[in-house]
Amino acid sequence: MRQPGAGLPERVTIYEVGPRDGLQNEQAIVPVAVKAEFVTRLLDAGLPVVEATSFVHPRWVPQLADAAELLAELTAVLGERTRQLPVLVPNERGLDRALAIGQRHVAVFASATETFAQRNLNSTYADQFAMFAPVIERALAAGADVRGYVSMCFGDPWEGPVAIERVVQAGVRLLDLGVTQLSLGDTIGVGTAGHVGALVGAFAAAGAGPERLALHFHDTYGQALANVHAGLQAGVSTFDASAGGLGGCPYAKSATGNLATEDLVWMLTGLGIEHGVDLEAVVATSTWMAGHLGRPSPSAVVRALAGAGADDPQA
Ligand code: HMG
Ligand code: MG
Repeated sequence: MRQPGAGLPERVTIYEVGPRDGLQNEQAIVPVAVKAEFVTRLLDAGLPVVEATSFVHPRWVPQLADAAELLAELTAVLGERTRQLPVLVPNERGLDRALAIGQRHVAVFASATETFAQRNLNSTYADQFAMFAPVIERALAAGADVRGYVSMCFGDPWEGPVAIERVVQAGVRLLDLGVTQLSLGDTIGVGTAGHVGALVGAFAAAGAGPERLALHFHDTYGQALANVHAGLQAGVSTFDASAGGLGGCPYAKSATGNLATEDLVWMLTGLGIEHGVDLEAVVATSTWMAGHLGRPSPSAVVRALAGAGADDPQA
């Protein structure tokens, strides 16, 4: 077993977003039984956190309109463990729906830019915080954990490059409102490694160290793994990823696939960083899901390993 290089964390938490971020952009509705099997297979593969769905307006994201049904189906298989699966809630209506069935982990999602706040949340940049404040307060009071996403942290398809100060301002607002972890999203995948280091450093300078951060990369320009490496060097140890590289945001022009879980696992294993995930089981899951979606996974690791047999080239 290799040892991680100097300055890299010994262990990383992979926060799996495939069933939510991965599927939310799919046009053809995936049957609820397939979604439930997707979630359980990912948990069985050792992924410690699997974000299951969103309690957003069903007209805004029709693919996830079955959120309550999915969680009921999962409860039949997973029992109380289902309550630990994070779900997105944009507003109090979403929180009510999530708390009504006892979910213990919710996530709000802010935008660092004005245009995306309007397009994704039908809110202004300033008003989104007023929308989230009672959600976070009530969730914490109910004993739930609240993650806060910030989108468009590197660039925005309508506004262009996004200033680091703007992202720090949005993130610190969410932390001040009480979120327990901040996930910084490169929604359209334009970020590069130096920018990642500078952003994490700016958060540390503002009092939010890397232990409070997660990084959420999309691989549009093929930079996601390089960006993860920059995040590791800056001390971040939670990374979002989507099985098979599924994903995109229905309200962000040019948001293509998320960083593939398999690509991340491959790199972490090579670096000697513990992650607890069974790569072969995730590849099999993504290959199975690709069959349901009718197109192959864009992940380089899935393409290399699917059908490669039992030999592990990293062993
Ligand atoms: P709105 O239309 O302004 O909502 O949408 P409203 O508050 O005016 O309410 C209108 C009606 O919707 C009301 O019903 C509400 O009850 C109902 P009526 O009285 O007319 O019968 N309603 C709801 N129903 C069910 N669940 C709800 C809900 N809220 C209101 N939660 C809203 C505002 C925020 C709801 C809408 O804009 C929305 O749902 N947006 C979600 C968009 C989304 O899910 N985007 C993708 C996730 S973000 C992402 O992918 C980025 C990320 O991955 C990180 C990254 O990559 O950067 C996280
Ligand atoms: Mg995303």
